[in-house]
Amino acid sequence: MNQQRKILVTGGAGFIGSHTITALVSEGFTPIIADDFRNADESVPARIEKIIGYMPEFIKIDVCDKEALTHLFEQHAFEGIIHFAAYKAVGESVAFPLKYYRNNLLGLINTLELAVQFKVRNFVFSSSCTVYGEPGEIKEVTEDLPKGLAASPYGNTKIIGEELLRDVHQSTSDLHIACLRYFNPIGAHPSGMIGEFPIGKPNNLLPMVTGAAVGKYKQLTVFGDDYPTADGTCVRDYIHVMDLAAAHVKALAFLQSGTSSFETINIGTGEGTTVLKVIQVFEAISGEKLNWKFGPKRPGDVAEIFANADKANHLLNWYPKYSLEDSVHHAWNWEKKLQHD
Ligand code: UD1
Repeated sequence: MNQQRKILVTGGAGFIGSHTITALVSEGFTPIIADDFRNADESVPARIEKIIGYMPEFIKIDVCDKEALTHLFEQHAFEGIIHFAAYKAVGESVAFPLKYYRNNLLGLINTLELAVQFKVRNFVFSSSCTVYGEPGEIKEVTEDLPKGLAASPYGNTKIIGEELLRDVHQSTSDLHIACLRYFNPIGAHPSGMIGEFPIGKPNNLLPMVTGAAVGKYKQLTVFGDDYPTADGTCVRDYIHVMDLAAAHVKALAFLQSGTSSFETINIGTGEGTTVLKVIQVFEAISGEKLNWKFGPKRPGDVAEIFANADKANHLLNWYPKYSLEDSVHHAWNWEKKLQHD
């Protein structure tokens, strides 16, 4: 048994990856991070060092570069892999589908081929609730629902990624796999040392809210006002990024226990929240008046979706610790801190 408990974290300098590194270290793992920083801030390693007390091993490589990735597997005996490395901007994926298919699928295939070759036992894949597409009548989605039609090439890369993993698992049951279907990750590390670094104007709601509040953006546009929801705005399941990070560590522990070997698992709070409610919580917590207006619906947005998280609760013994208020509070701290860095 490798005492260092090394976990390869691809894309570990990104938003969810960086928070997961801190959670892995808290649980006694040694993350080895492969990231080429094309979508991450160069300051992330030093920030993580401040939280965990040492500089973890960051290797600047593109997981699509099989030779470089092979070299990494030759150097380390990994107990598990958490595969985050992928593009994630929905709109961009519609404009540049090949860029998304090439990067997201090739990176996954390379990592998986090496996992099989080097006999790594445990693999956690970063999936998304986007695999459900438009959920129809049932807004609270369970994992056994048939996958919807993905609204974007980005979504297709997650659907295909899951299917690819299922096929590989069927051919080699030695590889234990968990696909975590994230709902809407928000918030930041409670220390305020790491958070989300959107490159360019963000697509996601929370960075737009906090960014508009500090004047980085003129105004927040709320996309659509006549959805069939309580206040006419879309409903999502917002989950604190540290709760999501903890789910990865729990998933690794579950895979290591060896009771099951291919699972798709929703990671959400089980609570749906409208966009207007998020704004209201933000204003209450920050004491700021947000400059916002209604605008047209965003193409591809589903009206309402939230997780049924029973499987994560029971299988992983995972329960979210943070409230929406905590998440908004931490995201706001982080935004203010960035202003002064
Ligand atoms: C999106 C992706 C999802 C992806 C996730 C990554 C779509 C359809 N889904 O989720 O596949 O995994 O990002 O984080 O794109 N909103 C506004 N104004 C804004 C920004 C957002 O009103 O400026 C609203 C949106 O209409 C939506 C909610 O806020 O109702 C959340 O949006 P967002 O943060 O972009 O997440 P999703 O669209 O749910």
